[in-house]
Amino acid sequence: MYNLLKGKKGIIFGALNEHSIAWKTAKRAHDEGAEFVLTNAPAAMKMGDLGVLAEKTNSQIIPADATSIEDLENLVEKSMEILGGKIDFVLHSIGMSVNVRKGKPYTDPNYDFTAKGWDVSAVSFHKTMNVLYRKKAMNEWGSIIALSYMAAQRVFPDYNDMADNKAYLESVARSFGYFFGRDYKVRVNTISQSPTPTTAGTGVKGFDGFLAYADKMAPLGNATAADCAEYTLAMFSDLTKKVTLQNLFHDGGFSNMGVSDAVMEKFE
Ligand SMILES: NC(=O)c1ccc[n+]([C@@H]2O[C@H](COP(=O)([O-])OP(=O)(O)OC[C@H]3O[C@@H](n4cnc5c(N)ncnc54)[C@H](O)[C@@H]3O)[C@@H](O)[C@H]2O)c1
Repeated sequence: MYNLLKGKKGIIFGALNEHSIAWKTAKRAHDEGAEFVLTNAPAAMKMGDLGVLAEKTNSQIIPADATSIEDLENLVEKSMEILGGKIDFVLHSIGMSVNVRKGKPYTDPNYDFTAKGWDVSAVSFHKTMNVLYRKKAMNEWGSIIALSYMAAQRVFPDYNDMADNKAYLESVARSFGYFFGRDYKVRVNTISQSPTPTTAGTGVKGFDGFLAYADKMAPLGNATAADCAEYTLAMFSDLTKKVTLQNLFHDGGFSNMGVSDAVMEKFE
């Protein structure tokens, strides 16, 4: 451990169970000396094991539906009380498509489901930053990260409407990141992560084949949830102060590949 986050205070959204990227990030952030509040949607907390993580990391839990401004205001106010001051880092690790869950095809979705998934997966990031910005809740040189996926740039048919949600999420990071940088010297970035076997990840049709394909394409292989946690911590640390408005690929090199020997072998 490097004490990379010693003295830093944060809010971590989206740890559902031990497979979650946010779960691994919280554990690793704790190891690096950070203090934080854990949050998730009230409904999700009934299914997950957030209490176990809170105990392990000596943190408190404040439930919040990330689509509710009222919940987010309560979360940010209470977090500052609990942590005894402003916030240094925020992880938005939230995604959900109702169309994917209900098996609706991209070409003929239920548009109420489309709107709900967009609100949960993308607009919630805008709402979170809106509340942090209005309440002047971030410390100078703080860092805000949301997790994305490469379907924002390229076609992955089974990713369905989450592709559009991620494109919106990445755009929000740039647009809001401008104001956060200008007014508070806070950086805002998205990390575009490899396919990862979590509850959200494995909900995508054909996930296993897809995971194996990405692993064979990437010269370094897929980045795991634990790898993602480490990269996220680097982005929360003081070693990355001037990185902002970026979508950062964390995928073992997959995003710049055309084809690899390992994939070609299957066609020869
Ligand atoms: N797993 C992958 O393959 C992969 C790849 C790239 C990016 N990501 C992204 O990583 C992030 C984390 O997902 P994960 O893979 O760890 O899966 P996960 O299922 O463990 O986490 C998703 C979280 O979103 C939370 N959530 C859903 N609705 C919410 C709401 N209304 N308010 C607050 N929280 C809500 C869930 O309760 C859950 O904790 C997501 O943004 C996901 O799209 C995942």
